[in-house]
Amino acid sequence: MLRRVDSICDSTCTVCGLVPLITRLKGTTKVVARSATMQTLLKRAARFAVSDAPVVVLGETGTGKEVVARVLHANSARAKQPFVAVNVAALPAELLESELFGHGRGAFTGASAAKPGLFETASGGTLFLDEIGEMPMGFQAKLLRALQDGEVRRVGENTSFMVDVRVVCATHRDLAELVRAGRFREDLYYRLRVLTLEVPPLRERSDDVLPLALHFLAEEKSGRRGYTAAAQARLLGYAWPGNVRELQNVVRHGSALATGPEIDDDDLPETLSLPKRSRPSTPGQEALKTLAEVEREHILRVLDSCDGSQSEAARVLGIARNTLWRKLRSIG
Ligand SMILES: Nc1ncnc2c1ncn2[C@@H]1O[C@H](COP(=O)(O)OP(=O)(O)O)[C@@H](O)[C@H]1O
Ligand SMILES: [Mg+2]
Repeated sequence: MLRRVDSICDSTCTVCGLVPLITRLKGTTKVVARSATMQTLLKRAARFAVSDAPVVVLGETGTGKEVVARVLHANSARAKQPFVAVNVAALPAELLESELFGHGRGAFTGASAAKPGLFETASGGTLFLDEIGEMPMGFQAKLLRALQDGEVRRVGENTSFMVDVRVVCATHRDLAELVRAGRFREDLYYRLRVLTLEVPPLRERSDDVLPLALHFLAEEKSGRRGYTAAAQARLLGYAWPGNVRELQNVVRHGSALATGPEIDDDDLPETLSLPKRSRPSTPGQEALKTLAEVEREHILRVLDSCDGSQSEAARVLGIARNTLWRKLRSIG
């Protein structure tokens, strides 16, 4: 399996060497990985593809955890079978079990017919459980049992049955920390952490910034060829707290505003002037902002980089969703 990956890399690699392997992926035509750390990570993902053991993908929001999970799937013998992605944090706790395991007829009010769960939908393929750190403790025990026995039981039914599914989980949280805080089961943690892939933040792989920016620009089909030297310097000088997803949004913004053949410095959003390291010069009195102004700007910036998703933004900011909602209301 590993040889298969390497030989394809050798013959066709233009950027990351895995291009031909991901052409089968819906919605992704190319994975950009110019940096040595990303290339190593994708090779590791390809190695993990040989086994059926669960994998956990770690990394900040927007780093490309789902992309890595798809690369893993595409490299596996399951590639022709479904890749089913589900965001655990987006499902209410009461629905999680019936969504994932399915339910029998009459299992609860409104269950007029039996329904297969996502484990069954993903049969033969890969089930990607995103935001696993938000999974309620009660359900964690059920997931662990499914991973250990390879069996699931629909809600309201008495018999379990085998499912052939490779589970890949992802989280932006520190699972060990969640275990210490009593919010993640230790046994599930030990089960998952055997095969771990850690996607580095974009600020730690600046070699990827310009190739990604060019890739997203080509996807815009705006006819713009690239970036001026000043725009490139801005892209490289920024810390990308929202990682690749934020870069993707910045490219969309720049490509919509640009008038010339290349995206220029002032086509890029204001927020990009925030430098990677603090400026050496002392700002003048007029440049000093109140804490509330800084908070407001930061919230809006994070929200923008999360495509307006409040739950995602709350996670990046490390605050509860209703705290964010309250703050947004006061911003007006
Ligand atoms: N290496 C990459 N090459 C191309 N596109 C990428 C890459 N990494 C991330 N993306 C894109 O950036 C966005 C965020 O990636 P995603 O996998 O959803 O991040 P995460 O799951 O870590 O929040 C997606 O639109 C994805 O297609
Ligand atoms: Mg994601």
